[in-house]
Amino acid sequence: LERDLLKFKGFYFQHKAFDTGFLENLDDFEIRDDDVFIVTYPKSGTIWCQQILSLIYFREHRKRTENVETSYRVPFLEYCSRHIDFGKTPSPRLFVTHLPYYLVPRGLKDKKAKIIYVYRNPKDVMCSYFHYLNTYPIFKAADSIEAFMKQYLEGKVLGSLWFDHIRGWYKHRNYFNIQFMMYEEMKKDLRSSVLKLSKFLSKDLSEETMDDVVRQASFENMKDDPLANNENMLYRHVGSKLQEGHFLRKGTIGDWKNHMTVEQNERFDMIFQKQMKDFPLQFIWD
Ligand code: PPS
Repeated sequence: LERDLLKFKGFYFQHKAFDTGFLENLDDFEIRDDDVFIVTYPKSGTIWCQQILSLIYFREHRKRTENVETSYRVPFLEYCSRHIDFGKTPSPRLFVTHLPYYLVPRGLKDKKAKIIYVYRNPKDVMCSYFHYLNTYPIFKAADSIEAFMKQYLEGKVLGSLWFDHIRGWYKHRNYFNIQFMMYEEMKKDLRSSVLKLSKFLSKDLSEETMDDVVRQASFENMKDDPLANNENMLYRHVGSKLQEGHFLRKGTIGDWKNHMTVEQNERFDMIFQKQMKDFPLQFIWD
């Protein structure tokens, strides 16, 4: 797996989709006041939030009058962006990124645009990640949870170390106009989460719009929706078909219990407690 990764400015990117020139100049990337960025560590609810934002901002998405993939409506900043001229994209622009706080464009630190940081409990992230890498033959993941856990806890994965990512963003939150969203809260009460998001985005949603958003952002709907489930995007991007399984695999809280042994869980907890001591955000584990 490691040879698919490329370390650049201290952060692991995916080698194949990497554009050095673009990333070298990212600090100067021009930010507009009405830009919105989703920031996530991988497997934390990225496509879910992309879908919600796209539904909030595009009537033609809500009403399904236009067939555009969610991953085009809310494109990655650092991947697959070579063909998009972001300078010509009409406002408001929506982006998604896995970048750590210190690599995002400078303009974001002037609180010009809005940032939504979605986080998920790191055990479920790990299990989701493990399956994802095994679903695509190209990634050649570690063949056991044990082996993958080692890699993950050393940060030798795309996105680097989970602890660094969330701590970095949280610690520097006052430099940004940022709203933290928890995957598990979205899962438990999607409507309230959409409401919270719409307030942050100053978008007044009618009941009807709210119904459309919540319905089309459900796991069940997205799983079968080729515009929303990322499978076409990944096919184009990594050029390999799904071996088995789906990008929207299970979408639950606490699946780690089906994967980790008692011993692995204790080891994980010890590291978690050490790394996250005094970290104020709460997590939901099941
Ligand atoms: S990526 O590759 O970083 O963009 O992956 P990401 O989209 O962050 O994470 C994929 C996981 O999110 C789950 N997912 C959802 N869960 C609940 N509801 C909805 N609507 C939803 N959409 C995506 C997806 O199923 C992956 O988690 P797992 O646990 O593997 O199922």
